[in-house]
Amino acid sequence: MIGIFDSGVGGMTVARAIEQFCPGFPLVYLGDLARTPYGSKSPAMITDYSHRNTDFLLRQGAKIIVIACNSAASAASISLSRQYSQLIIDVIFPAVKKAAAVTGNNRIGVIGTRATINSGLYEQRLQALRTACKVYSQACPLLVPLVEEGWLDRRETKMIVKKYLHPLRDKQIDTLILGCTHYPLLKKTIAPRIGRRVHIIDSSVEVALHLKEILDQDITLHNALYAPEIPSRFFVSDTPAPVNALAGKIFGRPVRLEQTDV
Ligand code: DGL
Repeated sequence: MIGIFDSGVGGMTVARAIEQFCPGFPLVYLGDLARTPYGSKSPAMITDYSHRNTDFLLRQGAKIIVIACNSAASAASISLSRQYSQLIIDVIFPAVKKAAAVTGNNRIGVIGTRATINSGLYEQRLQALRTACKVYSQACPLLVPLVEEGWLDRRETKMIVKKYLHPLRDKQIDTLILGCTHYPLLKKTIAPRIGRRVHIIDSSVEVALHLKEILDQDITLHNALYAPEIPSRFFVSDTPAPVNALAGKIFGRPVRLEQTDV
């Protein structure tokens, strides 16, 4: 199985994209809703949660781990890759690769949680790929709670998005990375407020395409994971009221969420 984790429902945007681009590969998903949001926690705490999540997914039979959370990736990617022998991929590198490929003026914006933005990892990785590029980052700490609450189309959400994007609008960016897996759910709100000509990079799609490339190239891994007869499973460590509706909205079908301790 392909193990995927996030602090909550955001990583389901990644799971959904993996279902679309890699059909026939069963998933085991963990949304750590008991501890969400990760983005306002310290790197040490996020790293600890990420190790627990990975252990849980491996116990469920995951053979590869997708860190479907930018906050976890920015705090714990290196530590997880050192500790586990399984392949661990994260959402940051594929989004960076895509942004570096599409920018025309080398001015790239990144929005994410405080943990992700403070880590500086997007900036480092972008500049490693494209030295000339200028990166403008903006932490948007209120957006994850708004998404988890299901406030996707509310007037208040639109106002907050506008306020967060305002500093980036002056920077003439031509590319904006949604550096949080919750933000694809706000794409319709973000796009008109950053400007229609700005390329929006959705890390959930990019990581799914990256995974597809890996599976197409590594036949042993492909054969070990391909099992269309096995159903995917979706675990959460808590079940707040809006979660079922949100999961249904992301997948376009009802999703059975199993509650677990991590
Ligand atoms: N989806 C997570 C991310 O990509 C949000 C983290 C959170 O703050 O819980 O960063």
